[in-house]
Amino acid sequence: MLASILSLSLGAAVASATNLFVSSYAGNITTLSLTASNGTYHIEKTYVNNGCAPNPSWLTLDANRGELYCLDEGLTVPNGSLSSYLVNPNGSLTQVQKASVISGPVNGVIYGRPAGQRYLALAHYSGSAVSDWALDTNGTGSFTFNQDLLFNLSHPGPNAARQDAPHEHEAILDPTGQYVLVPDLGADLVRVFCIDSDTGLLTAETPLSVSPGSGPRHAAFWNPAGVSCENCTSYLYVVTELANTVTGYAVSYPAAGGMAFEKVYESSVYGQLNLPSGNAAAEIAVSPDNRFLLISNRNNTSFSLPNPIPSNSTQIPSDSLSTFALNANGSLTFHQLWPAGGSFPRQFSLNRYGDLIAVGLQESSEVVVMARDVATGLVGMPVARVEIEGMVTSVVWDD
Ligand SMILES: *[C@@H]1O[C@H](CO)[C@@H](O)[C@H](O)[C@H]1NC(C)=O
Ligand SMILES: *[C@@H]1O[C@H](CO)[C@@H](O)[C@H](O)[C@H]1NC(C)=O
Ligand SMILES: *[C@@H]1O[C@H](CO)[C@@H](O)[C@H](O)[C@H]1NC(C)=O
Ligand SMILES: *[C@@H]1O[C@H](CO)[C@@H](O)[C@H](O)[C@H]1NC(C)=O
Ligand SMILES: *[C@@H]1O[C@H](CO)[C@@H](O)[C@H](O)[C@H]1NC(C)=O
Ligand SMILES: *[C@@H]1O[C@H](CO)[C@@H](O)[C@H](O)[C@H]1NC(C)=O
Ligand SMILES: *[C@@H]1O[C@H](CO)[C@@H](O)[C@H](O)[C@H]1NC(C)=O
Ligand SMILES: *[C@@H]1O[C@H](CO)[C@@H](O)[C@H](O)[C@H]1NC(C)=O
Ligand SMILES: *[C@@H]1O[C@H](CO)[C@@H](O)[C@H](O)[C@H]1NC(C)=O
Ligand SMILES: *[C@@H]1O[C@H](CO)[C@@H](O)[C@H](O)[C@H]1NC(C)=O
Ligand SMILES: *[C@@H]1O[C@H](CO)[C@@H](O)[C@H](O)[C@H]1NC(C)=O
Repeated sequence: MLASILSLSLGAAVASATNLFVSSYAGNITTLSLTASNGTYHIEKTYVNNGCAPNPSWLTLDANRGELYCLDEGLTVPNGSLSSYLVNPNGSLTQVQKASVISGPVNGVIYGRPAGQRYLALAHYSGSAVSDWALDTNGTGSFTFNQDLLFNLSHPGPNAARQDAPHEHEAILDPTGQYVLVPDLGADLVRVFCIDSDTGLLTAETPLSVSPGSGPRHAAFWNPAGVSCENCTSYLYVVTELANTVTGYAVSYPAAGGMAFEKVYESSVYGQLNLPSGNAAAEIAVSPDNRFLLISNRNNTSFSLPNPIPSNSTQIPSDSLSTFALNANGSLTFHQLWPAGGSFPRQFSLNRYGDLIAVGLQESSEVVVMARDVATGLVGMPVARVEIEGMVTSVVWDD
């Protein structure tokens, strides 16, 4: 008896489990459990939910409230959908509500008052729109429609095949919490919306125009001083899918309202290395230590990795992750090009410590967890990988 209690408590001391949620176009949200024990990692699927079908494209997690929002792109049906879930302690999900939305939602961000009324803004790629939804505050996970904003192009952009119409690709919140920004791949804009703090309604401000034909996909803010700094300069980094550039802008807030952007840096997402043909940059994020910027590159197999089964000599083709060091003046210094773990890293998420990166590999149908050295900012080798049914679209840590 004593022996089994002792071994249980020893086990608890050396092993810790973290849940991740994965969306895939097969129609599922999969819960993964990652266990670290004595320097090795074990990952397994613990739960699958198909209530967000047919084509889950993005997960927005409110970890503090235990609420998960799943966007379904609705690739073969007229409308997309938005589903809300409550996260159970064992990692399973209880679906609360599912609403039809404008087609093609691919990304969403929560805004509003931390302890009060909150909202969810969605970027609709195929529907050329932004919508927003009021999230109920009573812990039930229910939500109600707030607003649809539709956009038009008078003529196609330089890349007519991809820029036939506005394509809203992401929604992010500015550091003041007063604006929602939406990169529009079709219109070569980063749209800027002012938030009405009483109603959550969004009003379009003057957008940021980026290089014609570059196709802005995602963006990330960086505040060199860290969080909540009243008058310090923050920077916006925009990654473009068609030109494969990363552009840094110094952000300011004119007294008349809206946001102003001054370009301070631009380079290829490969830094000074040659940009390979076919590359399609995807995700961008600032590391939790606030010192590095990471970008994922799809559609050019720059690396191959040893097979995880040692007896199998077939190497694993891998796209890449680019890391840049962030300089105080907003410029970037290219730091590392490294394997992403497999094919088409559409999205990745760093854990809260920044020592692990979960990569959502669309074409490999896998989630791969890469080690990362926080001190040096260098990405390391894969420490865990798991197959997922269908094309993986996003993976988030519940940590
Ligand atoms: C994934 O979702 C699809 C669509 O609803 C369903 O047919 C399939 O059984 C689900 N997979 C698992 C493992 O539950
Ligand atoms: C922990 O890992 C080290 C190094 O791999 C190994 O020498 C040691 O035996 C392991 N301990 C346990 C309890 O597995
Ligand atoms: C996980 O928790 C949910 C909600 O409490 C429960 O319905 C379900 O049976 C649990 N699953 C397992 C495998 O224990
Ligand atoms: C569903 O799609 C149709 C056609 O695009 C659109 O008119 C309608 O507003 C959408 N429904 C919702 C709830 O957004
Ligand atoms: C939660 O709030 C919503 C709207 O605010 C309301 O419709 C719903 O009935 C509430 N549910 C509970 C259990 O209080
Ligand atoms: C888009 O353009 C069409 C044709 O000019 C017009 O009918 C429609 O109202 C416009 N929609 C928006 C949201 O501006
Ligand atoms: C920030 O700038 C405003 C306007 O210039 C000024 O009133 C305020 O005192 C400044 N705050 C800090 C913390 O410097
Ligand atoms: C990747 O880019 C290189 C250099 O442009 C090119 O030679 C190669 O064919 C590309 N590979 C793939 C798989 O696209
Ligand atoms: C991948 O690259 C090939 C050429 O190398 C190109 O034809 C194709 O459109 C690219 N796919 C994407 C999704 O960018
Ligand atoms: C070896 O690995 C490759 C790539 O993952 C896989 O396609 C193949 O089935 C594996 N071969 C065996 C014998 O497991
Ligand atoms: C910005 O900082 C970097 C790194 O310290 C430096 O190399 C670069 O010259 C600076 N750029 C400007 C415009 O001052």
